[in-house]
Amino acid sequence: MEFKRTTVTAALPYANGPLHIGHIAGAYLPADLYVRYLRMRGREVIFMCGSDEHGAAITLRAKKEGISPQEIIDKYHVLIRDTFQRFGIAFDMYHRTSSPIHHQTSQDFFRVLYEKGEFTEKSSEQYYDEDYKQFLADRYITGTCPICANPNAYGDQCERCGSTLNPTDLIQPVSILSGKTPVLRQTTHWYLPLDKYQPWLEEWLIEGKKGIWKNNVYGQCSSWLKEGLQPRSMTRDLDWGVDVPLPDAEGKKLYVWLDAPIGYVSATKQWAADHGKDWELYWKDPETRLIHFIGKDNIVFHCIIFPSILHTHGEYILPDNVPANEFLNLEGEKMSTSRNHAVWLHEYLDEFPGKEDVLRYVLCSIMPEAKDSDFTWKDFQARNNSELADILGNYVNRVVSLTRKYCDGIAPGYAGAQNPDAIAVLHAQVSQQASLIADSLENFRFREAQQEFINIARAGNKYLTDEEPWKKWKASPEAVPAILHASLQVVAKLGVLARIFLPHTADRIFSLLETDGLHLSWESLASEDAIAAGHRITQVEVLPLLFEKIEDETIQRQLDRLATAKQGPAAASPEPEAHPVEAAKGEITYEDFQKMDIRLGTILEAERVPKADKLLKFKVDTGLDIRTIVSGVAEYFTPESMIGRQVPVLINLKPRTIRGVESQGMILFAEIPGGGLFALAPEEALQNGSVVK
Ligand code: 2FM
Ligand code: ZN
Repeated sequence: MEFKRTTVTAALPYANGPLHIGHIAGAYLPADLYVRYLRMRGREVIFMCGSDEHGAAITLRAKKEGISPQEIIDKYHVLIRDTFQRFGIAFDMYHRTSSPIHHQTSQDFFRVLYEKGEFTEKSSEQYYDEDYKQFLADRYITGTCPICANPNAYGDQCERCGSTLNPTDLIQPVSILSGKTPVLRQTTHWYLPLDKYQPWLEEWLIEGKKGIWKNNVYGQCSSWLKEGLQPRSMTRDLDWGVDVPLPDAEGKKLYVWLDAPIGYVSATKQWAADHGKDWELYWKDPETRLIHFIGKDNIVFHCIIFPSILHTHGEYILPDNVPANEFLNLEGEKMSTSRNHAVWLHEYLDEFPGKEDVLRYVLCSIMPEAKDSDFTWKDFQARNNSELADILGNYVNRVVSLTRKYCDGIAPGYAGAQNPDAIAVLHAQVSQQASLIADSLENFRFREAQQEFINIARAGNKYLTDEEPWKKWKASPEAVPAILHASLQVVAKLGVLARIFLPHTADRIFSLLETDGLHLSWESLASEDAIAAGHRITQVEVLPLLFEKIEDETIQRQLDRLATAKQGPAAASPEPEAHPVEAAKGEITYEDFQKMDIRLGTILEAERVPKADKLLKFKVDTGLDIRTIVSGVAEYFTPESMIGRQVPVLINLKPRTIRGVESQGMILFAEIPGGGLFALAPEEALQNGSVVK
């Protein structure tokens, strides 16, 4: 079906902390690339986002910082909005869910569903913290996941296995507020009967989106539906959020995952009011295509719960596609806010001024489109130096400086062309690359699209190298202008396409060509006259480089910063998270303790265990012997990062065979509340075999 317009949304970030590169690679960069592409193709598109300002994410953060939720959202909303803007994410509207228009819009949704009789009102026993006099929903409660045994699952979701949970599903629940075991108390809530929508979801999603939605998204949805959906409460006992619009609902707020996606609608309303548009066209017209860009942890909410709400409401269109990305790791480890193991976008922009596009380029190159991927600073440096600087930057610079040298900086024409076939091949190649880029972007294959873009610079470089205008200048100078004419066209087309991938660079390319490039569009990619003969290009004395090389010291500084953050996770964290301390175990005697023989040992070798994602196999020098130990830590450490570390080892644990390997002891780690492990080490290296007691 041909659509008239597209509504693009990107997940509303919680206004409870800064953005890191994982957020960008997950949702915002792909959304921005897609929107820039559609705009360039002349399609009608709006791009909506804003701050998610309700829910436990905000109130817990406020408690942590000792300020009010309002102060938290005011602080982070501004930081996030400005960071997006500096980085070049081109939203049409960056809104807020604390705005009156949003409160009203989400209450209207609730009312419509309520009046249709969709909600089941149910009184049940829910966990309650007696010290704090508060019910414990969602992130206010943790415990062990009943599905995968993760001890740090939340009341709404287990981040390890992705299951959606209710607080009462948790094994050994603990209040985030007091750290105590909560009690059960009666309370009333309004439930969305997701089980009732299951047959509709089977048809709309399982049958309708098969082979259309990305495998990672479709796969997650089918497994939820296979498990069978349960009714989900759409209200909470909280004092921060959107009021439940019913007379007998004092002290009740809307569930944040009910109000947040409606934030896309309220953002559109505000944008339409500001621009004299009709918001309803973007949400209710069947000829509008709705696309949600999100990270994988948001899939259930955007593919199952929100569509069920839209469908039940009855007036709204449904998402046509939800091209969710997987997660981005950093230096082989999961990104973690609590351990400050992250690259914060606002810090990057401060530390790398003018290099917004380098990060855009690298994040697009490694975007976790189909599976988790890894950002490393060395790879960042290599891609900048050998792709952006050596291929794209070098090409543009060569063409501009050759034009200045041989044509006095005036764009030449075709006259005197000696090798018109090569020129035709070059132009055909650019057109073909442009079609490939279009096809990749239409299908959310951003990595591939950017590769094709760089391939144009590669083709341009090859053409120059084959034609050797610097040699021809001596033998047959009349042939040179046509070579440079052809090359200038390619540079201008790179400028056009850079508006999608590298918008800051696009401006720099056009500035070298001494044009604003406004006359150039997608259609110009097929033109052979994008830069007309006679046009004067830049006259600046010293040509600026499009991309400077990044030195080893710069990269080392970033690696050192990450290492420092690791040594002092709590101190260095800009966003500490509240996690309960695990409950104490039963008493033991000194004799019990003495049975354990713990020594310091050094890891000599480390490798992954084939076909076991979680396991690493170590060779450890215990001072008494060299032995093999298998640990389930591969999620947290790369093998390379463990070699040479001195660690405490329980050496008299009865050997166990794990995946066919005999493990002769156990390495001890500290568990990081909220997920992750910390490798314990003596401040200075001691002799292996030293007793730990
Ligand atoms: O996971 C998150 O960060 C949520 N704040 C995303 C919300 S997306 C949308 F529904 F608003
Ligand atoms: Zn789990």
